[in-house]
Order: sequence, then structure tokens, then C-alpha cells
Amino acid sequence: MKLSIFILFVAIAFGACNQKNSNLTIKPEAFHQLIDGQQVDLFVLKNKNGIEIAVTNYGGRVVSLLVPDKNGKMEDVVLGYDSLDGYLKADEEYFGASIGRYGNRIAKGTFKLDSIEYKLAINNTPNSLHGGVKGFCKKVWGVTQKAENELELVLVSLDMDEGYPGELQVTMNYKLTDNNEFVITYKAESSKPTVLNLTNHSYFNLHGAGNGDVMDHLLQLNADKYTPVDSTLIPTGNIDPAAGTPFDFTKPVAIGARIKDQNEQLRFGLGYDHNFVINKADEKALALAGSVYEPQSGRYMEVFTTEPGVQFYCGNFLKGINLGKQGKPYKYRTAFCLETQHFPDSPNHPDFPSVVLRPGQIYNSECIYKFSVK
Ligand code: GLA
Repeated sequence: MKLSIFILFVAIAFGACNQKNSNLTIKPEAFHQLIDGQQVDLFVLKNKNGIEIAVTNYGGRVVSLLVPDKNGKMEDVVLGYDSLDGYLKADEEYFGASIGRYGNRIAKGTFKLDSIEYKLAINNTPNSLHGGVKGFCKKVWGVTQKAENELELVLVSLDMDEGYPGELQVTMNYKLTDNNEFVITYKAESSKPTVLNLTNHSYFNLHGAGNGDVMDHLLQLNADKYTPVDSTLIPTGNIDPAAGTPFDFTKPVAIGARIKDQNEQLRFGLGYDHNFVINKADEKALALAGSVYEPQSGRYMEVFTTEPGVQFYCGNFLKGINLGKQGKPYKYRTAFCLETQHFPDSPNHPDFPSVVLRPGQIYNSECIYKFSVK
């Protein structure tokens, strides 16, 4: 108990002194609150190039990410709220959130593992989405600021939490390197056989959050194939070639270039909301998932992952109703997500890469968002 109070004190002290030379507009006080009896705060990571990432341990959320444009002008490129209340009151869009236990959808909220059927909350009719009603994005994570550029977040998810079997111990590490990489690593162990698919749900706009849409951003995906879906966004089970369709991003293409094409998959997704199969020889190797370039600012972001897939979603459900940071509305398609992941609904698709975690095994996953200018 005493040790945890000391760790919290060190963490807050780090946060406070970090704030002195900061370009962040959000105030840590606006995140200082007790939830479920646990302390929530805002923590800031910095590197020597002036990049800053603000994170709250409520949902392990990335609240703000300041990166320079080609002239060195800093801009906050992720969607989020100025205060914890923003996250608590708004409709859940998963801004910057840590997603678990299962990123993406599980069909009809049911799956079988070792002949036992499990039932999850249906929170995205008729399916279960992003871990259920109180997924990892709504839990208070234990937190230790390990250095000015590194944060460790931990969570214990009890057996049958949101219907998932096994007590799960999760450690998530956020590190900002001097190469302008935001490195997210996940480790987890379970007391019983379970399924697991962790991801981060940051929404990016390389013009700056709230500064127009992302239709002009040039997206390239290292993916020759994708997993088409039914009208409820559950994979059909096919793994289709992207070539010759609006899903071919093997060369850089503006996100908006083909989004209005007559295409059943675009109709089902209300735009892009699909899992792409990353080209890699070794399924578990760290590989480039894709990159996004915004020509006006020159900002360039690359995404690397050890996961086999990446969900490309471009804010088709954003409505601009909830006001984001600095009172800016986040309207339709004003951000994109590249959520590194195993494929949606894998527990019901034995042919997809396995998401089963058994006692004694260690779940490992890594995702890197790397920023530069061109
Ligand atoms: C994921 C899903 C989308 C949507 C967003 C959150 O990216 O694939 O359909 O639910 O989360 O709004």
C-alpha cells in the first residue's frame, strides 16, 4: 500500500514538472478525479524533439499527441477531450482508448472455446464490440511513470469480466523514443483459456484534430488482401484480394479518392471500416502496416505492428455532436484510425490467425506510430 502511494506520488511529480515546458493546452487538473475509488490523472511523455503525448490512466487513453509539421509548427493530431468529464459524458467513440479484451467485433456476442460457449454483451447490435459495456477503455489502469518518455499501465481483469473467461493480468507500456516513435507494447497472461485481441483506438488527423476532414490524406497499406464483411461488419470468412477494388492501398491514394464508389463493402462499412491483412512472411514479425501522408503540413505517420491485421476506419460514425479539445467539433470523417489487431470475430473463424491465450502462455503485441515530415 505504502509503495503504491509512493509510486503515485512520483508519477504525479513527474507529470507536474513535465507540464512546465509544455505546449499542451489541456490541464492535468481536469483529469484528477477518483473513479471506482481509484485515482485518475493525466501523464505527459516527452522526447528531445519536443513531441509530447498526454495519456490518462482512465482507459489508458491517449488524450493529446503534439507533432511538428514541415516548418516545425506543433499541432495536436489526435481526437480527444480537454477533461475527464468529456470522456465520461460523451457517447463512446473510443477516442485514444485502449481496447480489450477483444478489439473489434465478435458476432452476436458469442463464441466457443474448448467446447464451452461464452456469451458477451451485445453493445453494437447485433454484435459485441471493443470488449463490451465496460471494456478496458472504461477501466482505471494502475500507472507508473517510469521516465520522462515512458509510462507503464497495468490492469487485472477478473475471471468472466464482461463474459470473458480467465483472470487476465495485462501490462501495457507507452514509450516515446527520440526517433519520434510512439511505441505501445502489450503483455498479458490468463489463469484460464481465453481469447484476447488488444489494440489502441487513437483517431488521427494530420492537419490537427478538428481541422477539417482526412479525405486528402494519402494512405498506403502494406496489404494485398482484406477481410470483407457482412452488413453488420462481421467478416464473411473470405480473405479477398484488394487489387482492382477501392481497397487497394498498396500505392498511396487519397482516403477520399474512391470512398464514394458504388461498392457493396463501402456501403456496408459506410465508408472504410475494414480489416486489412498485412503482408508479412512471418505472422508475428514486426512489420510495416501502412503509412499516411498529409501533403499540406508534410506530416507523415508510419504504423508498424507484430499483429497480422490492421483496421482502417475513417470516422464514418463521427457526427460532430460532442465538442472535442478546445471546443472543436469532430465532424463526419475528420479522422482515421489504424488499429493494429488480429482479425475481427476470429474466435468464430478457425481459419483466421488464433486469438486463443492459454495459461502459461504470454500474450505479446507491439504497435509503433512513427512521426516524421516529408
Ligand atoms: C471501430 C469499428 C467502427 C466503429 C469505431 C468506433 O473502429 O470498426 O465500426 O465502431 O470502432 O466508433
